[in-house]
Amino acid sequence: MNPDATPRARTAAPGSAATWQAFLQDAARMVDVSVPLVTRGRLTRVSGLVMEATGLALPVGHTCEIIQDGLAIAEAEVVGFAGERLFLMPTQEVHGLRPGAVVAPAATPASPLRFGARNHPWRRAEDRSRRLPVGESLLGRVLDASGRPLDGCGPLEVTGTRPISARAINPIDREPIRARLDVGVRSINALLAVGRGQRMGLFAGSGVGKSVLLGMMARYTAADVIVVGLIGERGREVKEFIEEILGEEGLGRAVVVAAPADASPLLRMQGAAYATSIAEHFRDEGRQVLLIMDSLTRYAMAAREIALAVGEPPATKGYPPSVFARLPQLVERAGNGRSGGGSITAFYTVLTEGDDQQDPIADSARAILDGHIVLSRSLAEQGHYPAIDIEASISRVASAICSADDLTRARHFKQLYSRYQRSRDLISVGAYVSGSDPLLDEAIRQRPALDAFLQQEQREGASLASSTAALAALFPAPASASYSSHGQV
Ligand SMILES: Nc1ncnc2c1ncn2[C@@H]1O[C@H](COP(=O)(O)OP(=O)(O)O)[C@@H](O)[C@H]1O
Ligand SMILES: [Mg+2]
Repeated sequence: MNPDATPRARTAAPGSAATWQAFLQDAARMVDVSVPLVTRGRLTRVSGLVMEATGLALPVGHTCEIIQDGLAIAEAEVVGFAGERLFLMPTQEVHGLRPGAVVAPAATPASPLRFGARNHPWRRAEDRSRRLPVGESLLGRVLDASGRPLDGCGPLEVTGTRPISARAINPIDREPIRARLDVGVRSINALLAVGRGQRMGLFAGSGVGKSVLLGMMARYTAADVIVVGLIGERGREVKEFIEEILGEEGLGRAVVVAAPADASPLLRMQGAAYATSIAEHFRDEGRQVLLIMDSLTRYAMAAREIALAVGEPPATKGYPPSVFARLPQLVERAGNGRSGGGSITAFYTVLTEGDDQQDPIADSARAILDGHIVLSRSLAEQGHYPAIDIEASISRVASAICSADDLTRARHFKQLYSRYQRSRDLISVGAYVSGSDPLLDEAIRQRPALDAFLQQEQREGASLASSTAALAALFPAPASASYSSHGQV
C-alpha cells in the first residue's frame, strides 16, 4: 500500500492521527467483507437463455464462470434471483451444458484503499460493475462489447479502464446547452439547430438513410472524438458502416463498439454502456465528444429479452417496466459535463416501423431526448436525401442557441414548406388560383430553392457558417413583421 497515493478528498491533514484512524477503519472493514473461502455453485436448470444455479449468494451483476469437466466453457452474469436460486445469463453462446456444471464466481475487483481518502466500496453500482479499456489508444479501433479488437489491427494497448456503468452528472452541476454545434448537414445546421451536449433522436424505419446520415455527421461534425455504438445491427451492416459510410477519414478520430444482432442480449446492452463510458472518459478529459448510438430500439429490445427471461411481467406492448427505466439511465449519461469541461452530444436512432407513432420505445425516447429528427420513407422513395421530414422534426434547444434572425428564417422556411405540402394536391390539379394566398405564392415560387436547400450529397459537408448563409440567401430580409411569428422551430 502506498500511503502517498493521491487521495480524492482529504478529510484531515495528511499523516494526522485522524487520517490514520480512518484508514485503519477502512482496512478493518475490508477484512470483514472479504471472502476467505471461494464458494462454488452448481447449475440446476437451463431454460432458454436463463440458467439457474444453487449454492451461491452473489449480487446481481456479478460475473461467473461455468466450468464443466474442469474447463471454463462460458462466462455468465447474475441477472436475478428467487429465494436460493440465482438466475444467470451467458455472455456468449453455450453448447453441451450438463446439469451440475460448476458455477464459479469471478473475483470482485476490490477497490483499492487510499490513504487519506475514505473508502466506500460497493456503495454504488459502478464499484461492482465491469471495467473495460478506455483512452487514447482506442481511437481508430473497432471493438466488441467486451473491449476486444475486431479489426485485426493487433492487440489493444490498454492504458486505463473505467466502469461501464456510471451515475449521470447531477443536473444542477451540468453546463447548460449554450453553443451551436456544426454537424456538417445543411438542413440540420440551419433548421434544426443542434447544441453542444444535446441528446437527439433519429427516428425512422429501416432503409430510409439513418446510417448514411449518421456517417455524414461522424465525418463532418466539429468534435474532437466520435464514439459509435453499433447495437443489434446485422453483422454485414457493421462492416458496411465502418468501411463505406464512416471511411478512413471518419475512423481516424473515432472509436467503434459493435455488438451485432447475434451477440447475447447482455453483450448488446453492455456494448451500449461501454460506448457511453468511452465517451464519458473523453468528456472528463475536457474533449468535445459526438456519441452515435445505432440503435436505442435494439438496446431496449435486448433489455426486454433479459427482463422477460427472468420472469418480469410484460406491460406495454411486451416491454416490461424495467426497460423504460433503463432508457433514461443510459441517455442521461450523455450531455454536457461540469462547467468548463467537455461535452457529449449524442444521437440515438429509434426504429419506427410503419410510422407507428404508438410504439412505446419511440414514445419513451421522444420524452427523454432534447429533440428529434424524423426521416420520411416517402422522401427517401422520391430520392430526396437526407430524407429529413422538416415538419415532423424539432430541436428543443433551438431558441436558446440561435440568433433571432436565424430563428425567424428557420420558422419562415418551415411555414413555406408545410404550406406547400398541404396544398400540394390543389396545386397539382391546377385548382389553386395564384394570388389568393401570398404565403403559398411565395412557397410555389421558392419551392425548387427550398428542395435544393434540403438535399445534400453524402460526400459533401456543409459547415454551420455556409448553412446559415445559404438560409439567409433564401430570405435576405428577415423583417419579422412581414412573417407571421407563430409556430415553433
Ligand atoms: N444521402 C444519401 N444519398 C444517396 N443515397 C442515400 C443517402 N442516404 C441513404 N441513401 C440510400 O438509402 C440506402 C439505405 O440507407 P441506410 O443509411 O443504410 O438506411 P438505414 O440505416 O436507415 O437502414 C442506402 O444504401 C443508399 O442507397
Ligand atoms: Mg442502418
